[in-house]
Amino acid sequence: MHTKLIDGFPFVSYTKATYEISEMEARCRLYFDWMNTRRTVRDFSNKSVPEHIIENIILTASTAPSGAHKQPWTFCVVKNADVKKQIRIAAEKEEKESYETRMTDEWLRDLQPIGTDWHKPFLETAPYLIVVFKRSYELELNNYKHQNYYVTESCGIACGFLLTAIHNAGLVALTHTPSPMNFLSKVLDRPVNEKPYLLIPVGYPAEECWVPDLKRKDLSEICVWI
Ligand SMILES: Cc1cc2nc3c(=O)[nH]c(=O)nc-3n(C[C@H](O)[C@H](O)[C@H](O)COP(=O)(O)O)c2cc1C
Repeated sequence: MHTKLIDGFPFVSYTKATYEISEMEARCRLYFDWMNTRRTVRDFSNKSVPEHIIENIILTASTAPSGAHKQPWTFCVVKNADVKKQIRIAAEKEEKESYETRMTDEWLRDLQPIGTDWHKPFLETAPYLIVVFKRSYELELNNYKHQNYYVTESCGIACGFLLTAIHNAGLVALTHTPSPMNFLSKVLDRPVNEKPYLLIPVGYPAEECWVPDLKRKDLSEICVWI
């Protein structure tokens, strides 16, 4: 690996394996076929998963690009049963309120085929809850707030990487957004510069696991060439 200074900052030469078009086609196709088997799961087994597997998954998420390479995320892994229970109680309280009074009729109709309601048993069943916090700034000396950039976009990409890594490990996840999510800062005692972003239960699917029979959009519906 070669290194050099550019404007006084260290750079390393970057090389990447490239493929013949035929191999590229095969790799793209296989990757799509495999990614197309990822599903959001709500029926979890309580079977345990080694902690280092979760740590590797989180390391993969943190390879995501981020504004000015600030990596403005914290992945808080909850394995403690009492804390998971507290999260379930608080989430179900908010979700009950949302389903009964806050969601529009249109939203509730859109959710019908997914089959969700305010009950969230998976918050206790799944061996881990990965709570992703976005860090809008870093607190430096003298309480100076050093801003992070494109924090929401960066965290969204990192969570995409996280979900892909979970799928790659042969595990399943649920992208959960109990709304509002502020209770997570309190229950998990997070610092003021962190705001809850997503709550992602991770584990094995239950022996009997059902997912809605969803269809994904065709290429013609999601892609335009100019
Ligand atoms: C930002 C975001 C928020 C979501 N919030 C919830 C949620 O709170 N509860 C839930 O059961 N599913 C939630 N989902 C999962 C979606 O319902 C799911 O991704 C969608 O139905 C497509 O299914 P698939 O992931 O199996 O392809 C969320 C997904 C995203 C991307």
